[in-house]
Amino acid sequence: MAGSNGRRSGSFEFGAALFALPDSAFYLLRDIIAERTGIFFDEAKRSLLADKVSELVTANGLSSILDYYYLLRYDSASDEHWTALINRLSVPETFFWRQPEQFEALASIVAGAYYAIDPRRPLRIWSAACCTGEEPVSIALALANAGWLDRMPIEIRATDASPAMVDRAKDALYGERSFRQLPVGLRSEYFESAGPDRWRPRTVLTRIIRYGVANLARRSEFEDLAESDVIFCRNVFIYFGDETIKQVVRVFSERMPTDGCLFLGASESLTRLGVDLELAEIGNAFTYVKEGRRQIVERWRPTPVGTPVAGARPRERS
Ligand SMILES: C[S@@+](CC[C@H](N)C(=O)[O-])C[C@H]1O[C@@H](n2cnc3c(N)ncnc32)[C@H](O)[C@@H]1O
Repeated sequence: MAGSNGRRSGSFEFGAALFALPDSAFYLLRDIIAERTGIFFDEAKRSLLADKVSELVTANGLSSILDYYYLLRYDSASDEHWTALINRLSVPETFFWRQPEQFEALASIVAGAYYAIDPRRPLRIWSAACCTGEEPVSIALALANAGWLDRMPIEIRATDASPAMVDRAKDALYGERSFRQLPVGLRSEYFESAGPDRWRPRTVLTRIIRYGVANLARRSEFEDLAESDVIFCRNVFIYFGDETIKQVVRVFSERMPTDGCLFLGASESLTRLGVDLELAEIGNAFTYVKEGRRQIVERWRPTPVGTPVAGARPRERS
């Protein structure tokens, strides 16, 4: 039950939101969050939203969620409040080698196709919701393990809307849970111990990754990154409304190179949204490509691992 100041009585129950979220405040807050972050809280997630913001209401010395909405909207330090909110809303659920068929398709087929076009041109890969960094590190690992890091220049950009996640990705310290799907041999080859129950990726992987903050709900923050040859935008559209997904994908399709590939999460699909990209199969993975390019990318063939490459440098290990 909400008291007159919006504070719930019985507020110390585990999992119960501290503050009530009446209709008026819910709609205002839901819409402003969707506009600024893409994340859409429908009616079924109303109590989750109340739960997540209650801590921030208290931290700012406020007495209702409506007051917190006004703070986000009008306070002169509103950028800082948005950063705190995005950090709070971020779901840090990720692990190495998630959907390995996509990393395998990248390393065994896509990299070779770009190499064949121009071996000196850097292959540009973007991890668009990189969270704590397991995804970009897995990309680097797949390419290193197939020998590509010695053959061609590769640049991986890794971004997230949450500065807290990007800081953790830069720290690159991982516990046991992050390794739950990575084959043991790859773990021992590409990671080193960094204290009790902590491991870090070897420099051979991290030296090709550049981290930054970019919000997919703000076109200006990611349109240049969308020019990457390969985009991994996985398990973030599940939090967005359809209109936001369409806006983001429109920028991808405008900016992607002719044979750019977009990988999404396993439960994400664009087919019902009527966007300008089509689904193609590369190896055992599905990817989205520009309209008319499906048959071309589906003809790409694997480059056998260990194929000698003219001018290849010896493999470095650090
Ligand atoms: C569940 S994680 C996905 C991590 C990784 N891509 C994977 O598939 O394992 C979702 C990430 O999306 C980020 N995120 C949420 N809204 C975002 C936005 N508007 N722009 C960029 N990243 C966003 C969150 O901060 C979080 O790190």
